[in-house]
Amino acid sequence: MDPKENSAQIVFSRPGHKVIAFTDLVAGEGVQSNQFLIVSGQDSILLDPGGDLTYIPLTMAMSRYLPGKSLGMIFASHQDPDIISALGRWMMNTPATVVTSRLWSRFLPHLVSQYVGKQVGKISQRMISVPDHGGRLPFGEGELLVLPAHFMHSVGNLQIYDPQSKTLFSGDLGASMVEAPPGQTMDFADMKSHMQGFHRRYIGSRRILELWVNMVQVLDIETIMPQHGPAIRGADNIQAFFDWLRQEPCGIDLMGQEHYQVPQEKLSVPTTQA
Ligand SMILES: [Fe+2]
Ligand SMILES: [Fe+2]
Repeated sequence: MDPKENSAQIVFSRPGHKVIAFTDLVAGEGVQSNQFLIVSGQDSILLDPGGDLTYIPLTMAMSRYLPGKSLGMIFASHQDPDIISALGRWMMNTPATVVTSRLWSRFLPHLVSQYVGKQVGKISQRMISVPDHGGRLPFGEGELLVLPAHFMHSVGNLQIYDPQSKTLFSGDLGASMVEAPPGQTMDFADMKSHMQGFHRRYIGSRRILELWVNMVQVLDIETIMPQHGPAIRGADNIQAFFDWLRQEPCGIDLMGQEHYQVPQEKLSVPTTQA
């Protein structure tokens, strides 16, 4: 059996509303990443589908839940290669509208140039350019919240909160390289050390984390699904995650003059293969 046949996991299901996680589609040298599909009534949204490494396996894996031709929306939390670099293929082969920050909606067309004039149509007419303060996206019988998460790590960063499944899709926030199936619950205490290095370098600052925690603490969250690594589940683990974020120095907090010196070290250049 093709191992990809096992890669989809339904992580939330109630009549008319499903959340499906794809966690093992990246092969080769790419960093592990998760993709999520939410289907609600006639509506569907694919979160952070990634690039060429995931395009074909993801198309195959999700076809059991939704034919590509009926994909309604694609959400790009930010502009990274593991988030949206296969945008051209998605726009050409599905009718989906792309939801992304207003900071990136004018840059993403750089990924689509070779497809313009074919089935894609005018790119700006297939984009929802989200303002900095986010918004409420009509979806199924209800809505999805598009939350501001700027500088976590991208300057124009958004997250999705699904009130039906009580899931916050946190993008790179909460990312870790722990090997665990998405259905498994881990103690946050065991995950923290695997998150620290990434957060210290990739997240803008502790102040941003504090502002973000203040915002999301009013939401009813049962699960936090990052784009890399396992989910953070349950009230105690989520509170421990928030407490850790509030006090964790990150990004520019940790930068000093020593990080801004004219370099002396020679970079090694691979020798060209004949
Ligand atoms: Fe990223
Ligand atoms: Fe990422």
